Amino acid sequence: MSQSTDTLVPPSSVPDAEGGPRRYFVTSFGCQMNVYDGERMGEMLSAQGMQAADQREDADLVILNTCHIREKAVARVYSDIGRLKREDGSKPMIAVAGCVAQAEGEEIARRAPTVDIVVGPQAYHRLPQLIEQARSTRKTAVDTDMPAVTKFGALPGRARQPRPSAFLTVQEGCDKFCTYCVVPYTRGAEISRPFADLVEEAKALVDGGVKEITLLGQNVNAWTGDDASGRSQGLEGLIEVLAAMPGLERIRYTTSHPNDMTDGLIAAHRDIDKLMPYLHLPVQSGSDRILKAMNRSHNAASYLAIIDKVRAARPDIALSGDFIVGFPGETEADFQATLDIVRAANYAQAYSFKYSSRPGTPAADMEDQISPEIMDERLQRLQSLLGEQQQAFNQTTVGQRTRVLLEREGRKPGQLVGKSPWLQSVHVVAPGAGIGDLIDVELVSAGPNSLEGQALALVTDLEVIG
Ligand code: 5AD
Ligand code: SF4
Repeated sequence: MSQSTDTLVPPSSVPDAEGGPRRYFVTSFGCQMNVYDGERMGEMLSAQGMQAADQREDADLVILNTCHIREKAVARVYSDIGRLKREDGSKPMIAVAGCVAQAEGEEIARRAPTVDIVVGPQAYHRLPQLIEQARSTRKTAVDTDMPAVTKFGALPGRARQPRPSAFLTVQEGCDKFCTYCVVPYTRGAEISRPFADLVEEAKALVDGGVKEITLLGQNVNAWTGDDASGRSQGLEGLIEVLAAMPGLERIRYTTSHPNDMTDGLIAAHRDIDKLMPYLHLPVQSGSDRILKAMNRSHNAASYLAIIDKVRAARPDIALSGDFIVGFPGETEADFQATLDIVRAANYAQAYSFKYSSRPGTPAADMEDQISPEIMDERLQRLQSLLGEQQQAFNQTTVGQRTRVLLEREGRKPGQLVGKSPWLQSVHVVAPGAGIGDLIDVELVSAGPNSLEGQALALVTDLEVIG
């Protein structure tokens, strides 16, 4: 149920126009699942007759779709709320959505009374009612329910997409309880969306011009569902059905947990051409002692064994990962083990973070918290190794002929930017080609973060024309 707090919202916050706010702007922080949620919120508000504003300043409803994973991300939300006040003293209607909303609930209204709505990640389908509630009561409307029936059934169908690559959340929540992580508390238990709903949503995306779908979940490879004939399937079963969908050219998925990396999913990387050769498989640390303290339930050797199997199935796979440095009790020897596993696994790209103590997680109460100086120094060393590996991976693709899905315009005139199968950004000048086209290119040079391609041919319905 939605509730109201006693915090009074200043009258200037609620537009007096008859129907409430008319133009919305959503800012999503954090993971891709938040980006997906933000898009669904926007599509729902548009279906209600509101319009997306081009910039935040033009909006009379601003939604901050927040991330709670590290302390910095939370601090950012409060500074952003402060900045929404306009020079004339007015402010838009403000909704705080996402994981900070879920974790802090009413506390947000106490700390930032200018906030009109607080809505958790499982409750945002009720945004229209919350807008009404905030307007009529002039109190902060708070809804952090995690209903058993998911929000997805209550949301309108997918709108036509502005980009050729779209996200599709297939799984939410986490049962793994890594000792540093807030996700099991903010996103709740693991749930898989039903097979048929996902096929229907994918079809709507493809009908709306999408050529690439990235399947999303906090533990996406833990997804399971019953197919049309009632057989229980893992993620590879869903990927196989989507791969048969005409018009859908590329499939990706993220983020995976090593424990759910089944042989079936690994084989899909060998057997399904439309499944792109990219795998994001976080390891977090290379030290078995730290992995145990993190409650990761895999060790360095079992992780590397999975990578070996994946490479046997798909030798050119681009491997990506997540790392945390400075977990409580991490010694220099533990950190060296992380550098060792990076050397052994050889990443095409990776994300690395300083450990951030999160209230309520078991690691927050562990002894031997690491000083910021040591964390900084370790992060720098790790990032320099990962940077070298990324540059080396990019270099190995130079000279290859490959296919790029064009996603946006580049900075130089006539330049377009797209993604290679390995998720590298590729800049290319391709007269006659446009956003949403697949083109064949030769990769001619590589920088640390992107590559230059030379156009060879435009691909239409996968038939190459010269
Ligand atoms: N501190 C630092 N990094 C964290 N992550 C999750 N929780 C924390 C934390 N408390 C990182 C992990 C995870 C990624 C999404 O964020 O590496 O894989
Ligand atoms: Fe957090 Fe671990 Fe779950 Fe990933 S697997 S969301 S790091 S608890």
